[in-house]
Amino acid sequence: MKEYNFIKKTIKEAGKLLLQKREEGFFIMQKNDDPRNIITNVDKEINKFIINAIKKEFPSHGIYSEEGEGIKNTNDYLWTIDPIDGTANFSRNIPHFAVCIGVLKKEVPVAGGVYNPITDELFSFKKGEGVFLNNKTICVSKITELSKAHILFHAGRKENLREWGGESYKTLLGNAKKTSNLASSSLDACFVAAGRVEANVYGTLSTLDISSAIGILKEAGGIIANEDKEDISLSSKPQKVFMTNNKKILNSLIELI
Ligand code: IPD
Ligand code: CA
Ligand code: CA
Repeated sequence: MKEYNFIKKTIKEAGKLLLQKREEGFFIMQKNDDPRNIITNVDKEINKFIINAIKKEFPSHGIYSEEGEGIKNTNDYLWTIDPIDGTANFSRNIPHFAVCIGVLKKEVPVAGGVYNPITDELFSFKKGEGVFLNNKTICVSKITELSKAHILFHAGRKENLREWGGESYKTLLGNAKKTSNLASSSLDACFVAAGRVEANVYGTLSTLDISSAIGILKEAGGIIANEDKEDISLSSKPQKVFMTNNKKILNSLIELI
């Protein structure tokens, strides 16, 4: 598949460029009216690099990016980009962030990659044909009990979620084996896909820009659902999201929090 090979090549080039820009020095800007919401010049430069590469190779396809400058799709294909997922980590030299490139056909993720240039780990998938970490096939863990599960929990900063966040964290501390927060939702999804953790819970998350990670999670046997256990659609609007290795863990989480 032309798109899949393009993703694998372009995502590595983008990762290399990202590391180069990081070495040269970067600056942090405020993204909107919340001073805690940040972006760097590297996010913007990597965004531009990926958009130009897609335009050149697939001039008739649409593009959606978390950082804007996209193109509306006039055919079945829509590319999704998050140039740096985990900008807060990147900005503090915490080596846990990723470049995300995915492609949807008729709104279904068909291929995608999530690349951490620091660890040189490339998670990728091609719908119906497999999911890989570098060249090895991966799949979700078989754990079904919360008491054995490692959960990544991100309540988010929204005021209306703070009470739920506090109560849920307390409940997870009492029921899950381990509860932590790694601050890169695309890598979180890939970690469930690779069996490194069992689930992620987000109080608020936009899923469209990380469609590649969601494709990887699903292809590895995982689930993405809302609190009504509905398989959620990819959305540019933030929503409450559960990503799990199986239905039992999903049910336990939804019952408890
Ligand atoms: C963020 C990360 C984080 C999630 C936030 C996202 P960004 O993406 O994915 O894990 O909790 O909601 O905004 O801003 O670093 O691309
Ligand atoms: Ca981003
Ligand atoms: Ca993101």
